[in-house]
Amino acid sequence: MKITVVGTGYVGLVTGTCFAETGIDVTCVDIDKKKVQMLLNGEVPIYEPGLDNLLARNLEKGRITFTTSLAKGIQGSDAVFIAVGTPPDEDGSADLKYVLGVAREIGQHMDDYKVIITKSTVPVGTSFKVKKAVQEELDKRKVDIPFDVASNPEFLKEGSAVDDFLKPDRIVVGIENDRAQKTMKRLYKPFLMNGHPLLFMDIFSSEMTKYAANSMLATKISFMNDIANLCELVGANVDLVRKGIGSDARIGNKFIYPGTGYGGSCFPKDVQALIRTADEHGHSLEVLKAVENVNYRQKSKLVEKIKGHLGTNLNGKQFGIWGLSFKPKTDDMREAPSLVIIEQLKAMGAQVRVYDPVAMEEAKHSLGETVVYAKDEYDACIEVDALILVTEWSEFRMPNFRILEKIMNQKLIFDGRNVYDPEEMRELGFQYYSIGRETINNQQEQPVQVKKAV
Ligand code: UDX
Repeated sequence: MKITVVGTGYVGLVTGTCFAETGIDVTCVDIDKKKVQMLLNGEVPIYEPGLDNLLARNLEKGRITFTTSLAKGIQGSDAVFIAVGTPPDEDGSADLKYVLGVAREIGQHMDDYKVIITKSTVPVGTSFKVKKAVQEELDKRKVDIPFDVASNPEFLKEGSAVDDFLKPDRIVVGIENDRAQKTMKRLYKPFLMNGHPLLFMDIFSSEMTKYAANSMLATKISFMNDIANLCELVGANVDLVRKGIGSDARIGNKFIYPGTGYGGSCFPKDVQALIRTADEHGHSLEVLKAVENVNYRQKSKLVEKIKGHLGTNLNGKQFGIWGLSFKPKTDDMREAPSLVIIEQLKAMGAQVRVYDPVAMEEAKHSLGETVVYAKDEYDACIEVDALILVTEWSEFRMPNFRILEKIMNQKLIFDGRNVYDPEEMRELGFQYYSIGRETINNQQEQPVQVKKAV
């Protein structure tokens, strides 16, 4: 079998490389010449664990190639995956110009049957717009070439995308007929070894599944963040509450970790898009609107705690930030809570030192020269008034607190991911704030319970 993947961003590249791994002949197309050249040399432009080795192996075996020519790239393909970007346009809805542009180009160049699959996350109904665009181009050429469209949303988590693709929980495919179903079944058969299902459904439901999945996950996080904030007020410990509810299989123990709010390229965008789709249909998604508001509020939560402790004038104060990417194991800075926190600290006059194991270069695009880029986690804490942990990279889990207390101006930690044990912080003599748990204030005799909302 031969497939073409259009767009070598994060989704397209993982998709193409993982299909090549099964022995399929893959051609990836991208308009960016520099990127195509890099990829042909085996260089991966994004940070995604395992992807470079997988790409190198498949390049060597000749199972994957890259080109800037879509016309050439789709020759002889059984299936074409569209995995180009859908950036939000001025009013926040997904801009489909790239997706539909690719659809038109496919229509201009295809010369035999293909399944044309939308992989990008797109509003419900887009696959039919793809169908129309392809058909219009075929009509212009006055040719009668059969094709089908399909929707095949991705559920890849950045940082474990290769694993998620190779061992999926489920694969969702929206199709219109048996012919397309047969092609998709053949393509995905190698990934069904772990017994998880390949779910076929109509195209509208498939497109909707992607949004519903991400919105449900975002809901779990915002719900937990709200509960964590209440835990602080009533003197409960959200760690225990989380375990208490998570062991109920109906709730589950995943995606109920409170923190600094969800970020990334999917949750914020998809939640907004679904709210918009519903509004357009005259239906207000009240739960999801609250999910978004809670997330917005949560990104400022640590700064509220800092203000509560140090006051609102932070002139002359310096902070060390651990973790910049929106989550560990990625260099993705999109919608990262660190950006909101740093902006607010700077607005109050503070100086900021930052360290991230992977995302430093990426962060420079957003932060420029406004912060000091430290060479490691300890360098980020030299003469700071507080350490703020924003992203829970595993290398921040067991720092040497003896070094920290020597280099910091004061022993003060704001932990946005509940990485440290409050008891240990008490023993070590640190003042310690986290999310939804007791505040440790070692400057006083007794630990202080936060009494009002911060
Ligand atoms: C997500 C979906 O998981 C994936 O299926 C979809 O296709 C793309 O969007 P991703 O954005 O890579 O993947 O990250 P994910 O690991 O899902 O985390 C999303 C955000 O939620 C992060 O900001 C993370 O820090 C936050 N989160 C996650 C929490 O705050 N608490 C949790 O318990 C879990």
